[in-house]
Amino acid sequence: MNNFTSIDYSPEKMDMGQVAFKQAYPTFETAQLDELRAREYARLDKQDQVYLDYTGGGLYAASQIRDHMTMLNEGVFGNPHSQNPTSLAMTHLVESARSYVFEFFNASPDEYVVIFTANASAAIKLVAEAYPFGPGGRFLPIFDNHNSVNGIREFARARGAAVTYLPTVLPELRLDADALKKQLDQVQPSSHNLLAYPAQSNFTGVQHSLEWIAKAQAKGWDVLLDCAAFAPTNRLDLSAWKPDFVPLSFYKIFGYPTGVGCLLARKAALTKLQRPWFAGGTITITSVQGEGWHYLIDGEAGFEDGTINYLNLPAIEIGLRYITGIGLDAIHERVSCLTGWLLDQMTALRHSNGTPLVQVFGPTDLHERGGTIAFSLDDPDGARLDYRRVEALANKANISLRTGCFCNPGTGEIVHHLTKEEMAEAFNRPSAMSFEYFFDWARREHSRNPSTIRISVGVATNFADVYRFMRFLHGFVDKPEAEVNAVELEYTAYDTVRDTA
Ligand SMILES: Cc1ncc(COP(=O)(O)O)c(C=O)c1O
Repeated sequence: MNNFTSIDYSPEKMDMGQVAFKQAYPTFETAQLDELRAREYARLDKQDQVYLDYTGGGLYAASQIRDHMTMLNEGVFGNPHSQNPTSLAMTHLVESARSYVFEFFNASPDEYVVIFTANASAAIKLVAEAYPFGPGGRFLPIFDNHNSVNGIREFARARGAAVTYLPTVLPELRLDADALKKQLDQVQPSSHNLLAYPAQSNFTGVQHSLEWIAKAQAKGWDVLLDCAAFAPTNRLDLSAWKPDFVPLSFYKIFGYPTGVGCLLARKAALTKLQRPWFAGGTITITSVQGEGWHYLIDGEAGFEDGTINYLNLPAIEIGLRYITGIGLDAIHERVSCLTGWLLDQMTALRHSNGTPLVQVFGPTDLHERGGTIAFSLDDPDGARLDYRRVEALANKANISLRTGCFCNPGTGEIVHHLTKEEMAEAFNRPSAMSFEYFFDWARREHSRNPSTIRISVGVATNFADVYRFMRFLHGFVDKPEAEVNAVELEYTAYDTVRDTA
């Protein structure tokens, strides 16, 4: 904790604030970041943007785009996996990207395969649709999963496996070790059982222990470790940790390109998967004259349906090399310092009557957490401020934050105290609800506020960004709810219904 919580965050006092910040967080390395920010992310300051949604999507560096465009402009590339020169040139770059993914995650090609997918969700679906769920088997997700992992349950249920959700526990929203152990003990011999959890919550930033991987495997479970929110600012060392399936999206790590993710899968676990179909590129031969005649290709090729996103794959290597050049540990440290400072400041903000402005959901210190902070704001009388108005005001201040449930409904239900009965009401209706409708309905019918505000910091975040964000939050001190409710909303039809990251 620091001792400068009374600062008013005025621009004139930022230098003073930064000095105090560096005293409290001496490992924060300003010079390297300032240089990087000016060289690679100049557009942020040119447009006066404060970007605080790295968990939604990372930001690309100028050099990543330049290097990729140079490669495209200077090369002649055909569809890979043929024997002509332009195809071979592309195959070479695709395989080089694949090798670099192994290197980045310290994974042995003897033990793992890298399957390129469209995104983390597509990687998860490869497992979901092919995992041998069946009667006697189990699917064990946790409340803190992203919807793309929650969706696995539809395959599990359809095939007769039991589905049990493990809750996380307030206030830190971590797993209850005893409850998890008890669940892990319940496996039937020769059944197939899948535990699925995020290494880092995309909602609260909580890092769920990687120790569960080996413990679960020892009891006969396969483990899907969702690293979409973890990988951008934490080292995932697959020589030390051996999850069976690791889905992730690359744009979350380095911003560009979108549309490429991967599934790192243990070879031993991959052989268990039974693909429900085949596609171009996944088989050696098939025949149209016999049903069911096809040979699936071994390894990653058997899971890469159709033509891979080949022109973008070299940009994955460019992006990973760029992150390696900065140093993932340096990024991790920077993000930790900024998160620690933000938590100190946010939890210290008080209205004049002494009531807290900010309610943080999840850990309020740096112990086993990443750079994502979820919160709500309350007025001096304790009335929860409408997240839509807060977002509208942030928009006016050129601050990109995220609101909603972040596709993580389980944690939303816990932190906003939505009961199973209330949720049942929301689903026992003649027509579907949008998220917007659900929010208004839960407020009206049950006095719940099932929406959250989220900020997340990343590779290019500097002190000026977080300081400006605190200035923005400070503007809510002593503001009555009625005043915030007078803020006009500007909505597109689109953002009321989509909430995917
Ligand atoms: C923890 C987590 N898992 C999975 C996903 C899905 O990623 P994508 O939308 O790139 O498929 C996200 C996206 O935000 C996430 O944060």
